Amino acid sequence: MGFVRLGLLIFITALLPASVFADKNMSTEVDTRLIHSRQAVKMFADALMAELKFALGEGGPGRAIKVCNIEAPQIAKDVSDAHRWQVGRTSLRYRNPDNVPDAWEEVVLRQFEQRLAQGEDIKKMEYAEETDAGYRYMKAIPTKPLCLTCHGDNLGEEVQATLNELYPDDNATGFKVGQIRGAFSIIQPSRSLLRRLLYQVQVRFFLLPG
Ligand code: HEC
Repeated sequence: MGFVRLGLLIFITALLPASVFADKNMSTEVDTRLIHSRQAVKMFADALMAELKFALGEGGPGRAIKVCNIEAPQIAKDVSDAHRWQVGRTSLRYRNPDNVPDAWEEVVLRQFEQRLAQGEDIKKMEYAEETDAGYRYMKAIPTKPLCLTCHGDNLGEEVQATLNELYPDDNATGFKVGQIRGAFSIIQPSRSLLRRLLYQVQVRFFLLPG
């Protein structure tokens, strides 16, 4: 009996603090992933904006569309590779069919529209969740006056012609300032099973009495 009780005691002392410890670590880990997601989005957004402004200044909107067409997916790929995550943009009304939202993104984009209708500021709108695919993060993108050149009503002739040529199924026009143009979207893949097991072993080893 004493042996069983001792076993039980070891089992409980080993397990209880481990779960508390793991929880505490998990929440700091999530916080880090949120901070890193925000940093990656900022890096991506700054690079896109710099490229857009440079292209508009150099060759006008028609030329800028062609630059966006090549550079935007490339910048997304560079930021993704740098972090080993999936980093991209999506929208309920997308221009590039590669940016079509998946089911999870579509739900979040619809929630963003509801949050906007309830008066929330687009600039601060974000959402994060632990999913089967990994840690996912989205941040809403506001429509600014600059964006209307290529995403508004009344597009210039050259802009419309270039868009027709490159994006025959374009959905991303008719936007107004203050609407949600789309969102940045990140997937940080889950840690592998092996890494999670090693982590558990570390926790157990560290906390086992004696
Ligand atoms: C010079 C024209 C131009 C301007 C100005 C412009 N865009 Fe775009 N935008 C494009 C093109 C072209 C694409 C498609 C890029 C691609 O193929 O990935 C695009 C794609 C996007 C996407 C990705 C989703 C989708 O529709 O495929 C978002 C989000 C976006 N733009 C937001 C903005 C915002 C916000 C602004 C203003 C700050 C802006 N754009 C200004 C041309 C423009």
